[in-house]
Amino acid sequence: MKSTFYITTPIYYVNDVPHIGHAYTTIAADVLARYHRLTGSQTFFLTGTDEHGQKVQQAAENQGVNPQTYTDNIVTRFQDLWKSLAISNNDFIRTTESRHTKVVHEILNTLLKNGDLYENTYEGWYCLFDERFWTEKDIVDGNCPDCHRPVEQIKESNYFFRMGRHRDWLIEYINAHPDFIRPDTRRNEVLGFLQQPLGDLCISRPKSRLSWGISLPFAEDYVTYVWFDALVNYISAISYLGDDTTFKTWWPVSVHLIGKDILTTHSVYWTTMLHAMGLEMPRTIFAHGWWTVDGEKMSKSRGNVVDPNAMVREFGVDAFRYFLLREIPFGQDGDFSKSAMIQRVNSELANDVGNLLNRSLTMIERFAGGIVPPPRPSQDGDLEREIKEAVGGMKDRLDMRLGALEFHRAIEEIWRVVELGNQYIERSAPWKLAKDHTKKETLENVLCTQMEILYWLTLFFYPFMPQTAEAMAKQLGITIHFSNPLLGTTRWGAFPSGTTVAKGKPLFPRIETQPTQPEPVVLADPAGTSEVPLIGIEDFLKVQLKIGNVVAAEAVPKSKKLLKLRVDIGTETRQIVAGIATKYAPEEIIGKRVVIVANLKPAKLMGVESQGMVLAAGDREVEGLLSVLESVEAGTKVK
Ligand code: MSP
Repeated sequence: MKSTFYITTPIYYVNDVPHIGHAYTTIAADVLARYHRLTGSQTFFLTGTDEHGQKVQQAAENQGVNPQTYTDNIVTRFQDLWKSLAISNNDFIRTTESRHTKVVHEILNTLLKNGDLYENTYEGWYCLFDERFWTEKDIVDGNCPDCHRPVEQIKESNYFFRMGRHRDWLIEYINAHPDFIRPDTRRNEVLGFLQQPLGDLCISRPKSRLSWGISLPFAEDYVTYVWFDALVNYISAISYLGDDTTFKTWWPVSVHLIGKDILTTHSVYWTTMLHAMGLEMPRTIFAHGWWTVDGEKMSKSRGNVVDPNAMVREFGVDAFRYFLLREIPFGQDGDFSKSAMIQRVNSELANDVGNLLNRSLTMIERFAGGIVPPPRPSQDGDLEREIKEAVGGMKDRLDMRLGALEFHRAIEEIWRVVELGNQYIERSAPWKLAKDHTKKETLENVLCTQMEILYWLTLFFYPFMPQTAEAMAKQLGITIHFSNPLLGTTRWGAFPSGTTVAKGKPLFPRIETQPTQPEPVVLADPAGTSEVPLIGIEDFLKVQLKIGNVVAAEAVPKSKKLLKLRVDIGTETRQIVAGIATKYAPEEIIGKRVVIVANLKPAKLMGVESQGMVLAAGDREVEGLLSVLESVEAGTKVK
């Protein structure tokens, strides 16, 4: 039997510009949709816009256009953003489309006929800004408890949905279905809310007050109020009351992804509406947390709203996608800062992944003429077995992690393979094998295994970083049809030998932060003295030593001794020329932590500028580079 997967995001209000909160839900939904397609589920991914309501009406009036023109204009901002964030939604629903309004009308008619709706006069405190009524006990000194603006006493006739009658059923349903509302904290919140008596839901507004909405089919003087209109998008988009086969293919929805602020509307309003309509419940409603920005609440008035377009321009789409899902456990609140993002990009993407790809391709070029050799009997049995197991069991682990919406854990699982890949290179040292003719087959096996690891990583990365996966496949010299159900059908050994690799630009260039140039200090020159003079601590402290991470290395042309290194020292990447080529091959030292003199005056060696010096043991010949036992961050001072 073919499994199906239907996932939705909230439909976004068009009176706001898209920000990181909108991007977050939509990217998370996209990762799940891509993953399910890659594992062979028939997938439908829906997003869209919520276009009715007083705020849109007002915004349109302010611009002197009619609301439809206004929304037609704004909606493209969302659609364009989804394109630049590589969102693979199958449909985009707008609540002003007739396919939607038609379904809202039919549902309202049916509910009225079945006695689920009634008309009543309602009196209460109304907040114009939040477009909602409050009870006497809610309001604070005549102000709205939410936005603190003055509320006004309003008495009007409206239509109501008999929501309260579903309360006992809902409590029972939630208790019997642990996966229904997630995470657990949110489920408990909803159960807490349902401890109170559940009132009926006002679903209309008189047209005299709000005209930009869907008219009630049985009372033309009224329009439906936001939620009774908006929530229906989840079924109007899949042809509810239209094409039954389509509807039955997708409903019930697998996951409604929402933010924590719209938990009640989804878990109580929507579920009771569905129950009244006689429809099945969503399998899961998952509410994620909110982002603050540099420790502060994000708001227009603070001027700290994060524009996803700007993030894409600055960091690239995949780095942004990766960061949002790696940084905080889905479901919890978290803080967004550029510095946290730069740190992750540099260490996890540029360093871990970038180096793995770069070194592997360089070695295929150097030791195999750019053509991937066939697999040979393994030499490094244990590690290869560990890698094969990590790769082979990955689908089950990703199924579990992504099934639980633990995106950060899923990424950790994948990074285990990245780490193993880097360890494999270190341990099997192809540069040494290349010097020994009797090790030809071993070398070929190592190179081929490296390619196989990278092939699997492209598949694992794809849901999270689709453009990176495409670019990696290209550099590996292969075409991968990601729209095919590759995870679950492909086995170890899938990478075709004989492929010509096509090393390209680094996938994740390191992000340079402002360098803090140390004051150059001229050192006393002890050369020529046979006796080594003693120096005071004040002299020693003039030498600034730092831990550096070698991110690139290549031979200096026409020199037997010199290598040109790029060394990351935390705040910047330095070019350092080192006389270590007799001891180390370039590939061998990429990724190594070394100790450098950071405040040495720049000098030229064989015409190549060196901005510092790496420390090594040995007198005439280098015997070994100085390193550090623990995994200390690049840039750490050495004292
Ligand atoms: N139109 C309604 C949803 C109707 S669904 C049938 C709506 N729209 S919204 O545009 O205001 O919000 C959309 C989503 O953005 C919500 O899920 C909300 O939680 C999310 N976010 C808004 N600010 C956010 C953060 N600062 N951080 C994370 N998500 C946030 O509500």
